[in-house]
Amino acid sequence: MQRYLKHRYFKHRCAKQRIQRPGALCKSALHKGALYIGLALLLCAPITWATDDTTPAMPHSVDNTSFTSEREAVVWRREELKDIESLVRQLRFDLVNNQDAEEAAPRLLELQERASANNLLPAFIAGTHGTGSEARASIWEEWDDFAAGFVDLEGKVATLIEAANQEDYRAAARALSEVGASCKSCHRAYRYN
Ligand code: HEC
Repeated sequence: MQRYLKHRYFKHRCAKQRIQRPGALCKSALHKGALYIGLALLLCAPITWATDDTTPAMPHSVDNTSFTSEREAVVWRREELKDIESLVRQLRFDLVNNQDAEEAAPRLLELQERASANNLLPAFIAGTHGTGSEARASIWEEWDDFAAGFVDLEGKVATLIEAANQEDYRAAARALSEVGASCKSCHRAYRYN
């Protein structure tokens, strides 16, 4: 049905432009189509940027966050990252040692929520490196690259969840290594240790 409609649409438009091959996609219809798609993308883009699946903007001061002080944000993010590390270790135990996807399921959901740009980025308030933190100052000079590190991690976690859902333990082991590599790659660039 959809195909038929499409066919009719092009036939109609092309016929109007006196192209005699019925059903053939005339050039101008294609160009128009591309133009409309381009316009639609342009129009949709700002809406997409405003939704949840985009990376949060850099918090310039504690006022833009739910924290009461910069110190609180630093302490919170360090605790959060330690918990994330324990979760990953526990998941290795569930999926690689025990091959128990059912046991892993709630922990995977927790990892997905906590090891995310949305959860972690708001705690990286501009300039909160130095005493009490292992964060490098370059985080705030290269915010987009830093944020991309968490987006990369989210992708690796999604692959891990897919493997666990399919009870493919070999793929889960591979995905866990990829998760670990994603953590390390950001640490190499943005953490003193
Ligand atoms: C996009 C960058 C980024 C990614 C991805 C990332 N981290 Fe980190 N991590 C940091 C930064 C920056 C610090 C230092 C934070 C601070 O001290 O203020 C840190 C610190 C830590 C710490 C030390 C916490 C403490 O204070 O003792 C642990 C543990 C940790 N991360 C675990 C992980 C694990 C596990 C992953 C992957 C599942 C991960 N991180 C992914 C940037 C990242």
